[in-house]
Amino acid sequence: MKALVFDAYGTLFDVHSVIEACEREFPGHGTALSHLWRAKQLEYTWLRSLMFQYRDFWQVTESSLEYACRARGLTLEATAKSRLMDAYLHLAAYPEVRETLASLAGRQLLILSNGSPQMLSALVESSGLKEAFAHVLSVNAVKVYKPNPAVYQLAATRTKLDRGAIGFVSSNFWDICGAGAFGFRTFWINRTGATPDSLGYTPDTTVKSLSELVPLAGG
Ligand code: 2OP
Repeated sequence: MKALVFDAYGTLFDVHSVIEACEREFPGHGTALSHLWRAKQLEYTWLRSLMFQYRDFWQVTESSLEYACRARGLTLEATAKSRLMDAYLHLAAYPEVRETLASLAGRQLLILSNGSPQMLSALVESSGLKEAFAHVLSVNAVKVYKPNPAVYQLAATRTKLDRGAIGFVSSNFWDICGAGAFGFRTFWINRTGATPDSLGYTPDTTVKSLSELVPLAGG
């Protein structure tokens, strides 16, 4: 493999690091609100792609937050919304990310994400990981979300590599399925012991944390 392409949300950055901010705004609802927010966010990306009604990930993240609050009977004031959306720009990187990326630095490392260019650039800046990546690619270039093949093509085009020479790393199983169907070699990061979906695809490699990639992908 000549390049490793990383998913961002849930793989490098912990989307549930917003639980604390959710809990501050809505005591007693933090964990449930964060989980519903993330579930709806993903659902909206898939629905919007199927409907050909693309809105960027910032708008999708905002509307899914609005839904999640409404569904839990919570009133989302403009100031609270803005604080919670801001938390999404400063998600915590998982503890092993920095060291893993440093050990893999001999490879070309990229991010390929649903995030809008502005969101991704804020994240890599605020986490201090910007320098680790040769390219940060956003679906915004094709205006459709993962797992549409046009998204994975962005990484193949940018690296000018054969699909089989690209390793794709994600903790989102459906993203791994999309990347594998496209022809990338896949590394599923299953931190939580999740059950693989029945989508007729088995990841090439399954590990429990990013650091396990180092001996496999070559340090
Ligand atoms: C990402 O594209 C799937 O949310 C995930 O970063």
